[in-house]
Amino acid sequence: MDNQIIEKMIQKAFAARENAYAPYSNYKVGACVVSEDGEFFAGCNVENAAFLAVLHAEANAIGHLIAAGKKRITALLVVGTGDQLCTPCGGCRQVIREFAGYDVPIYLCDFKTRKVVETVTLGDLLPKSFGPEFLQL
Ligand code: THU
Ligand code: ZN
Repeated sequence: MDNQIIEKMIQKAFAARENAYAPYSNYKVGACVVSEDGEFFAGCNVENAAFLAVLHAEANAIGHLIAAGKKRITALLVVGTGDQLCTPCGGCRQVIREFAGYDVPIYLCDFKTRKVVETVTLGDLLPKSFGPEFLQL
């Protein structure tokens, strides 16, 4: 994918990450998705005193994309906190799966250097998975 697009995703994911509400884990996450028509939507994690009610950054970004009337994800970038690259959790992988093909790139961005260190696809992260086409009976 175009370097300029990746740079813009980095900017937006970091800006959202700044606003993360993570008083319990102190683990801030930012994400940015690109829609089918090239618009950018960012999200951060939003924790809750009732721990089960946590909103993840990727799901938050996807919620913004859907609320804007878009239908598909063409790329996703995520940045966490600390030395380990943040990768979407199992639940987020399934949320991405609803709106993305297996070939969609998922950029794992390093928090300190602000660089994409690893690129995987949804197919790498969630192969042989259940999706909306299974319900088209
Ligand atoms: N988190 C995300 O936002 N996305 C993920 O896929 C991994 C985990 C958040 C949830 C929680 O606020 C914090 O990271 C620690 O789990
Ligand atoms: Zn998650």
